[in-house]
Amino acid sequence: MTVHQVLLEELDTDERYDVIVSGLPLTNFSHVQVERIMARYRELLPPRGSLTYFAYIGTRMVVAAASWPSRSFCSEPSSPPSPCS
Ligand SMILES: C[S@@+](CC[C@H](N)C(=O)[O-])C[C@H]1O[C@@H](n2cnc3c(N)ncnc32)[C@H](O)[C@@H]1O
Repeated sequence: MTVHQVLLEELDTDERYDVIVSGLPLTNFSHVQVERIMARYRELLPPRGSLTYFAYIGTRMVVAAASWPSRSFCSEPSSPPSPCS
């Protein structure tokens, strides 16, 4: 087993992984970060590979509340965080 201590987006490998189990806190990331991470997962999977992921419900609301007033919760809980307009 190899442990890579890098950001997923910076993982430099030609390996393909049949199964990816992700515990990244996607609800904490911006829409752009989530798109980059999902794009990297697609690159790392072979054509019939599987991706499964989990994230904790409510994390985004806690982060928004803890960082108030600099960051607000402006999108539905089921969608990625978005900046307030
Ligand atoms: C809150 S922990 C979750 C740990 C895991 N889900 C669990 O239940 O034990 C989030 C982890 O994601 C890592 N992380 C955050 N952004 C990342 C990224 N872009 N690529 C790889 N790891 C990342 C952090 O270093 C941290 O270890």
